[in-house]
Amino acid sequence: MAEWIHFVVFLSAMNLIGFPSLTQAQYTGTATFYNSPYMPSYCYGYEDEGVMIAAASDAIWNNGGACGQMYQVTCLSGTNSGVPFPCWGSGSVVVKIVDYCPPESCRGTIDLSQEAFASIANTDSGSINISFQQV
Ligand SMILES: *[C@@H]1O[C@H](CO)[C@@H](O)[C@H](O)[C@H]1NC(C)=O
Repeated sequence: MAEWIHFVVFLSAMNLIGFPSLTQAQYTGTATFYNSPYMPSYCYGYEDEGVMIAAASDAIWNNGGACGQMYQVTCLSGTNSGVPFPCWGSGSVVVKIVDYCPPESCRGTIDLSQEAFASIANTDSGSINISFQQV
């Protein structure tokens, strides 16, 4: 019992000091963005979920199981030489999955709303390398 509590305290401390979470796996991929109108969305139809939202590719979608999940997305670098240093702001944003990004048209791991993308990177870059984790 005591050992278990120590472990939980340890995990919480790791999270507090900004260590990569040990409880949620962190992945890398790419992010693109899409523009409004954001409704209807695959998950919520005409229910307004705000603008800090994203569409999941098959890497995340989980046959719709990703609907409503929150992801923290962090800009790592550009994917092309056109905009060598696209990351800005805090470099990190939390978005809610509201839509599906189908393989036929999806060019990234996660397709962010224009607002979410613009809060972490220059939209001129179109696509960025990211790390992401469920929160
Ligand atoms: C983006 O990620 C890819 C795949 O990991 C990597 O090959 C590429 O060098 C990265 N681009 C930059 C500018 O770091």
